[in-house]
Amino acid sequence: MIKICGTGSALPAKKVTNDDLSKIMDTSDEWISSRTGIRARHLVTTETTTGMAVEASRQALEQAGITAEELDIIIAATLTPDHVLPTLACEVQATLGAVNAVAFDLHAACSGFLFSMNTVAAYMQSGVYKNALVIGAETLSKIMDWNDRGTCVLFGDGAGAAVIRNLEEDGTNGGLLSFAQHSDGARGSVLACGNRPVQHPFAQPREEENQNVSMDGQAVYKFAVSTVPKVIEEAVTKAGLTIEDIDLFVLHQANQRIIESVAKRLKQPIEKFPMNLQACGNISAASVPILLDSLNKDGKIKPNDRIVLAGFGAGLTWGAAVIQW
Ligand code: COA
Repeated sequence: MIKICGTGSALPAKKVTNDDLSKIMDTSDEWISSRTGIRARHLVTTETTTGMAVEASRQALEQAGITAEELDIIIAATLTPDHVLPTLACEVQATLGAVNAVAFDLHAACSGFLFSMNTVAAYMQSGVYKNALVIGAETLSKIMDWNDRGTCVLFGDGAGAAVIRNLEEDGTNGGLLSFAQHSDGARGSVLACGNRPVQHPFAQPREEENQNVSMDGQAVYKFAVSTVPKVIEEAVTKAGLTIEDIDLFVLHQANQRIIESVAKRLKQPIEKFPMNLQACGNISAASVPILLDSLNKDGKIKPNDRIVLAGFGAGLTWGAAVIQW
């Protein structure tokens, strides 16, 4: 049985409310909250992606009751590591002393934690690894255009982590029941962020790309509300369940209206869709594990609860997994 045995999370200390933003740009709490549900987000001041990832990972390891040395694999989902090299996963490995783990990053934007979890599960199903640490960690504030009020107000910083184990010998049911995941690169330009241009002395200088996030908000909105219900149904069907069998839907925390629309299309009560976007904004790969950790710590998840985890975002990418707690 492939099971989440521990969770953890970390947010930067600095909380920035919509009212704080309205003091530095032409926006308002009313505009942001009525369109997105977001009221505040946490932004790094002294914290780093690695530091938050390590804090979240330590909590997850402690709850799982295993040591860093017992980890076989660490996958870090991020689009905002502290450095291009070394990778976030390797930096976390070094800090934790997870000397027996292979460590690498997986970049699938807001679907990153989910795709990383599914990657780990595939390794486990084929018997390669037993103990995994999966991290979603972001410092999105550094790739925002702080003059673009249409995007910068939506995002926040933070990290979440989960220890996932293959407990073959434990004999109980549950764990990861199914997953489904998709990409559509042809529509990728609706949510983009450029990279450093080619600058070497043997090439003509190329046009600088926008190195901040740019987004066609309405196109992303339409993409999310049309694909997320379908991929959830796909994963639930693969698990041999119906939507009514699901106790909780832990969705990527991009926008309250997107989540409400998914609930409506699935004909499920909104109470089954916990949210933390009001306080955290959209933290890309970190949003699902941070929310999962707070539900876990607050005792909102009961043993045997069936939970859908779903991610969607840049790429475009989207996916869902069904787990039994
Ligand atoms: N404060 C005040 N006004 C703002 C603003 C802000 N922060 N951002 C944009 N506006 C203005 C625009 O300039 C525009 O003004 P105009 O009509 O005078 O040109 C107006 O508000 C409407 O903008 P629009 O983009 O049409 O708003 P919208 O209703 O589509 O809402 C989003 C914008 C971004 C909130 C919405 O499209 C959305 O949530 N999309 C999904 C984005 C997302 O979740 N991305 C991440 C996925 S992983």
